[in-house]
Amino acid sequence: WPRGARRDEGAVVIGGVDVRDLAREYGTPLYVYDEADVRARARRYAEAFHDGSVHYAGKAFLCTAVARWLRDEGLGLDVCSGGELAIALAADFPPERITLHGNNKAVWELERALDAGVGHIVVDSFEEIARLGFLAGKKGVRPKVLIRVTTGVEAHTHEFIATAHDDQKFGFSRSSGAALEAVRRVLALKDLELVGLHSHIGSQIFDADGFQVAAHRLAELLVAIRDEHGVELPELDLGGGYGIAYLPGDEPIDPKAMADSLRDIVGRECRAYGLAMPRLTVEPGRAIVGPGGVTLYEVGTVKDVEGLRTYVSVDGGMSDNLRTALYGAEYSCALASRTSDAAPMLSRLVGKHCESGDIVVRDLWLPEDLTAGDLVAVAATGAYCRSMASNYNHVPKPAVVAVRDGAARVIVRRETEDDLLRLDAEVEA
Ligand code: LLP
Repeated sequence: WPRGARRDEGAVVIGGVDVRDLAREYGTPLYVYDEADVRARARRYAEAFHDGSVHYAGKAFLCTAVARWLRDEGLGLDVCSGGELAIALAADFPPERITLHGNNKAVWELERALDAGVGHIVVDSFEEIARLGFLAGKKGVRPKVLIRVTTGVEAHTHEFIATAHDDQKFGFSRSSGAALEAVRRVLALKDLELVGLHSHIGSQIFDADGFQVAAHRLAELLVAIRDEHGVELPELDLGGGYGIAYLPGDEPIDPKAMADSLRDIVGRECRAYGLAMPRLTVEPGRAIVGPGGVTLYEVGTVKDVEGLRTYVSVDGGMSDNLRTALYGAEYSCALASRTSDAAPMLSRLVGKHCESGDIVVRDLWLPEDLTAGDLVAVAATGAYCRSMASNYNHVPKPAVVAVRDGAARVIVRRETEDDLLRLDAEVEA
């Protein structure tokens, strides 16, 4: 739950605003972000990596308001599409603090990034190195480039979000020698400035080992590059992936401890081989916006399936939170509009979509007197919920509201049926 969440007369209050007022004013489902919580987490990362950079991974959730909060907290920003870049630029995010990612950036995306003057471009394939070199030459610019390396670390997380093993689409493998070949090719192009290496091992990881092993392997590569080419690369970007608490027992990664250990590992390797300490960058997404976001739903039906469990249907579902269906993600959920002394009943929180996999929270206990019109809040939905939302069943996407010091404001408006119908090219036919 966001740091500022509490109960007042039974109802959950976030950022000083009663969720019942939020539901009345803005409707449900509703994504609610506690601005102070997001800013505080950004500051903790910035302090922990005070001698490096923290780039917020915009894929977790991006809109101009959030981009501005993080810009003002001194963070950089990672984007991985032209659309994310467009939001960053619309928010007046300083381009030199933006990094462009992606395993298949379109030519127009590379061009837009070069025109905007983004700080870094992370190259991910041999084709892209050639493409970017050509485009930079044509435009007469010399972008700073990082090479994405797959370090071979087996991250302990869901298969779909682990990214450092060899058999997946991202990066250049270290073990096969592709990473060193990428270095040769970038160095051969006068229009690209190679400044460092990048690694992202996966997401929602609690175990510090994976990050540490990856950092060590990148530092070793820096030594190999110096030995082969006589160049010392000044930057290492160690990616994101820091796990957050979704359930009461989860132990999130501590940014300060993480920063200290990464600095130690890289520093030791560099000292041993006479390299200057590179500047370290990390790219947390979930750890910045995840815990500060809550989704509010209204209960519509409560169906007791005899002898099994009670199905509690809410007015959203897999269109606003795909993570349970896609990754088997787990969430904490609470009755938010009141408290109840009724006995707990084994429940499943489900959505309104037309498939049985449309589950928001698979197993939870809710009070037996739960009824239509009650509000429930699902915690830690600030990352990868709105950003992965869909219009399945032609359901408009919920609004996003920011709360702070007792006031709420819409930061992304609710889609309407008209918004969706506008895209239907033959609606008037
Ligand atoms: N940097 C790069 C290059 C990434 O690919 C990602 C996430 C991040 C940073 C930020 O990772 P974070 O700190 O947020 O874990 N949709 C999935 C997560 C996919 C993450 C993809 N890349 C989910 O809902 O769990």
